[in-house]
Amino acid sequence: MSHQFTQYRELLNSSMGHAVDYLESLPERPIDKQIGSDELRSRLGGPLPQTPSDAKLVIDELAENIEQGLIGSGGPRYFGYAIGGSFPVSLAADWLVSAWDQNVPYYVSSPATSVAEETAAEWLLELLGLPHTAGVGFTSGAQEAIYTALITARNALLKRAGWDVAKKGLYDAPRINVVVSDQIHSTIKRALWMIGMGECDIKTIPTDKNLRIIPDAISDVLAQCDGPTLVCAQAGCIDSGAYDPFEELSACVSRHPNAWLHVDGAIGLWSAASEKQKPMLKGIEKADSWDTDGHKWFNMPYDSGVVIVRDASLLAEAMGGNSMGAYLTDAIAKPDRNAINFGIAASRRARGVPVYAAIKALGRQGIEDHLDTCCDLARRMADRLRNVDGITILNDVVSNRFSAQFGKGDDEFRNVLTARIVHRLQQEGFCYPSTSGYKGLKTMLFSVLNCHTTVADIDASAEKIIEAYHIELEKIDAACASAVI
Ligand SMILES: Cc1ncc(COP(=O)(O)O)c(C=O)c1O
Repeated sequence: MSHQFTQYRELLNSSMGHAVDYLESLPERPIDKQIGSDELRSRLGGPLPQTPSDAKLVIDELAENIEQGLIGSGGPRYFGYAIGGSFPVSLAADWLVSAWDQNVPYYVSSPATSVAEETAAEWLLELLGLPHTAGVGFTSGAQEAIYTALITARNALLKRAGWDVAKKGLYDAPRINVVVSDQIHSTIKRALWMIGMGECDIKTIPTDKNLRIIPDAISDVLAQCDGPTLVCAQAGCIDSGAYDPFEELSACVSRHPNAWLHVDGAIGLWSAASEKQKPMLKGIEKADSWDTDGHKWFNMPYDSGVVIVRDASLLAEAMGGNSMGAYLTDAIAKPDRNAINFGIAASRRARGVPVYAAIKALGRQGIEDHLDTCCDLARRMADRLRNVDGITILNDVVSNRFSAQFGKGDDEFRNVLTARIVHRLQQEGFCYPSTSGYKGLKTMLFSVLNCHTTVADIDASAEKIIEAYHIELEKIDAACASAVI
């Protein structure tokens, strides 16, 4: 089989046809998968191919066989978890990134995408109101960004305590206290395990009914922390969208002799780019490091995350980019941006380029409009639902998300009813919230992150949710009545 450059046009035209068919079907197609795993295996599985096949046929069959197993999470009525769609301009830029196939961690292997990422990094800092000298790395998502930030935090805290991790490793190092909110996201806990912190090192700060750290509790917990201390807060709690009190947190952290404040802003750091929303994030710019996702509220195609560290030199030191093999010594000596100094990946695609394209196409105003529209739409849905007898919105809707419960009975009754309603909605496929938990209750999590969602989508989905509530309530009541008889 020969691989000709002339193959690209035919194959990419074919891919484009399939891609656009799929994207244009998103507003109407059922959101949930239409076939199960057995059917998917029979379509996609099989023995290892031994001989070449026609590449165009492979692409056509791939598109056809996979389509009914996709989740329409890029569509306008997908409201589950924290999954955004894609700005068309970023998807288009991402295709170019694939075609260019550049390796971005070293300036010498991709000068142009290095400069595009450098520009995107500078724009991001300005947009988010963070120190313009901070180091910015483009990661696979918030998890990698958190991991990168916490490695940097650990090394910096230990260095200040007189312990050089690069020289001495971690055995016998001073213990680091870890302070987190009781609502901290599981990816922070995962990153803590990965950097060598155990459950026994972690102290939690309690949260209020909106899942926001209680300011008065911060100084008490920090007072118990002697020695290096890592504090993790969040901007945009998954279940309520709440922002922790950064002003109070940063004040306590700055009074501590050796503490570091990291803010997980996977969802909500973007609020810093909105004039309306940013007062809720007051003080966030005083943290030592931050993470966010491009692929959630900023509508980058997967995968896209960002790590930001106030002191770029600490990030570079923790990433160890200057100690690569001899074959990279000359490459790294160049003064231009070597992304290896801002992240873990030693090879990666130019993820900052779709970010660059989005900022250029939308501008500050367009980004702000997108962020504010999502919040308005989430509030609109919450208002529609809370007007229905028996539907409770559990949090103040301060951002793009809320948690709801259905029914009036005891906790168990409401938990069961809520789960049934969400599962019904997912199976119907018109709109797609997800289940979650809220201080021990089973909830419907409703999240608006997609640039394609409209008022009409919200209103039509509200009707469906209310209808599902009445149907499931009637079914449960009927089942209870027949059990009594
Ligand atoms: C608050 C928060 N932090 C971190 C993450 C992890 O993000 P990612 O899945 O992009 O790694 C999530 C994911 O939902 C999140 O909601």
